[in-house]
Amino acid sequence: MQIFVADHPLITHKLSVLRNKHTPQPTFKQLIEEIMTLLAYEATRDVRVTEITIETPVATTTGVELTRPTPLVVPILRAGLGMLEGMIRLVPTAEVGFLGMVRDEETLEPTTYAERLPKDLSGRQCFVLDPMLATGGSLAAAVEFLFERGADDVTAICVLGTPQGVETLERVVGDRRVRLVLGALDEGLNEQAFIVPGLGDAGDRLYGTPH
Ligand code: PRP
Repeated sequence: MQIFVADHPLITHKLSVLRNKHTPQPTFKQLIEEIMTLLAYEATRDVRVTEITIETPVATTTGVELTRPTPLVVPILRAGLGMLEGMIRLVPTAEVGFLGMVRDEETLEPTTYAERLPKDLSGRQCFVLDPMLATGGSLAAAVEFLFERGADDVTAICVLGTPQGVETLERVVGDRRVRLVLGALDEGLNEQAFIVPGLGDAGDRLYGTPH
């Protein structure tokens, strides 16, 4: 598995505001989108393109367009939905599929409660969006789901990750083609399996009742 951890002052600055517990909900939402757009630049580095001929006002030249079928973007509900617009802004022709997953607070086991994806993902490039890679259980299950449908190339994009989460994902993925793009790699997990220092519960901060 290829791992890329962003090292850019603009991302670190936006992450610092995101981590701050006093940051209000609208700002939090906007920053998740902005960080996603910045991460998308790196995450799409190997997106498949096809050469095309184009006419400029001056001459005929060659350019590229996204290879069809276009990539499939899969936000993991709820929190991943907050990243979707930030991704689609850069790849507006991508198809979007949805996976709803929730982690049991006691057992930490993820359950899939919703799925709206193409039945056949053979030969498809997929991008999975979830702000948090904590124990790694949810993302590992999501990636496994895509491989079972035939995907052969998956890029997972998370705002924050932990060494434990990366290890779990690596174990599940084996030698399949997976790339992980992280905004930052945090220290680890606390007793409730929340990322430390983290940013709290991304789903609640995006869609819960503001405190
Ligand atoms: C959070 C987060 C990830 C998952 C990470 O979602 O958005 O999906 O937990 O944890 P893991 O790596 O230990 O599996 P949650 O289950 O809280 O659901 P939500 O997005 O609906 O808030």
